[in-house]
Amino acid sequence: MPLRGEVVVPGDKSISHRAAILAALASGDSLIRGYASGADGRSTLACLRALGTGVRQVGDCDFLVSGSGLREAPSELDCGNSGTTMRLLSGVLAAWPFLSILTGDSSLRGRPMARVVEPLTRMGARIWGREQGRYAPLAILGGGLRGIDYSSPVASAQVKSAVLLAGLRAEGRTSVREPEPSRDHTERMLARFGVAVAVRGREVSVAPAPVLTPCPVRVPGDLSSAAFLIAAALLVEGSRLVVRGVGLNPTRAGFLRVLERSGAPVRVLDLRDQESEPVGDLEVSHARLRPFTVGAEEVPSLVDEIPILAVLATQAEGTTVIGGAGELRHKESDRLRTMAAGLAAMGAEVEESQDGLRIHGPCALRGGALSAEGDHRVAMALAVAALVARGATAIEGAEAVDISYPGFFETLYALGGQG
Ligand code: S3P
Repeated sequence: MPLRGEVVVPGDKSISHRAAILAALASGDSLIRGYASGADGRSTLACLRALGTGVRQVGDCDFLVSGSGLREAPSELDCGNSGTTMRLLSGVLAAWPFLSILTGDSSLRGRPMARVVEPLTRMGARIWGREQGRYAPLAILGGGLRGIDYSSPVASAQVKSAVLLAGLRAEGRTSVREPEPSRDHTERMLARFGVAVAVRGREVSVAPAPVLTPCPVRVPGDLSSAAFLIAAALLVEGSRLVVRGVGLNPTRAGFLRVLERSGAPVRVLDLRDQESEPVGDLEVSHARLRPFTVGAEEVPSLVDEIPILAVLATQAEGTTVIGGAGELRHKESDRLRTMAAGLAAMGAEVEESQDGLRIHGPCALRGGALSAEGDHRVAMALAVAALVARGATAIEGAEAVDISYPGFFETLYALGGQG
C-alpha cells in the first residue's frame, strides 16, 4: 500500500539534549518546545533533575527547565541507552566539584568512553571507569579544569561537545579541532545561550562562561527519524508524503544530498530559519534510485542514516559502496554487522567490510524472522525493508523504536505502510 499524507516527526534528539543541558547551566527558566519524545530525551531530563535542575512538563513535548547550578546527585545517573546523554554530561560534570557516577544499559556500557575521558582528564578532571576508563560506569570527580587545545582523532559531535561544555567552567579558552566537520548544534546553541563561541574552519573555541543566559528553544523535527518515512515513501510505489518542520542543518543533512545524487525526488518546501537552525518541509514521492557512494568525509553528516541508506541501496540499480564508516561499529549496536546480517537474511546481496558495506541491487527481498539487536535505528530500517519484501516480517525487539521514535509503527500504518 502506498504511503500518502502529511506527518510531523518527533523533535530532534541531538538538539533536545543540548537544549536541556544548556538550560540547566543557565540561571533561570528556559522553555523548550517540541522536545524529543523518545526514551533518550527522557534520560537527559532525568539526569538533570537528579543534579538539582527544575524540569517541569508544561505541554505534550514542552518542558520548562529551571537552572540554578548543579549539585551532587544522590545516586548514580542513569543515561539509559543514550550515548549523547553520557558523553555530553561527562563534559559538563567534569567541571563541577563533586562526584558523579554515570551508567546506562548494557549497550551503552559497551560503547567507547575513552574518547571523552581522555581529553577531560587532560583538562584536569579525575575520571574512573571500567577497563582503565574505557567503559561506563564512569565516576567523575570534577572541578579545577584548565582550558585545552584539543585535536580529536574522531569526527564526533559528542566528543567535541563534551570538551566545549567542560570548557565553559575551565580556566582559559578551550578549542577543539576535528578531522571532518561533525554536527554543529552545540556551537549554534551555545551562542544563543550567551556564550562567546568562535568557529574557524574545523576548529571551535569557547571562552569560559560559568553561568549561561536562559533562552527559549523550539526544537525542529528530527531528520534522522524523518529519514525512515522518506525512505519508505521512496520505496513503495504510488507513495507521496510531506514531512513538516524538519531540521535541515547542513552538518546533519548528508542523507538528503545522497538522495539527490541517487535521483530521489525529494523537494524542500518553505526553507526557513527557526532560531539558529534551518528548518523545512520535505516532499517525497516514489522513484527508482541509482546506486551511490559514501566516503569518510561524508559519514559524519549522515552517520545515523547509514542503516536506512543500506536498505535503499538494496533497491537501487547497481552497486552501492559505503566506506569510512567504522564508527558505526560503536553505535547502539554494531550497525555494519547488524544491518548486513538483517538484510542478508532478507535475501539482499550485502558484503560487510571493516569500515563499510557493499550492496548490490536491485534485489527481491523476502520477509522473515529478524532481530533489531536492541537498536532503534536497525528496527526502523528493517521495518522499512519489510514494506517491500515478499511475505511477512517479524522483528524481535522492535519496541526499541521507543528510544527515538515512539509511535513509529502507528505512524507508518496510518500513512498506509503495511506491516
Ligand atoms: C550525536 C552525534 C553522533 C550521532 C548520535 C548523536 C550528537 O554521534 O551518531 O546519534 O547528538 O552529538 P558521534 O558523536 O559519536 O558521532
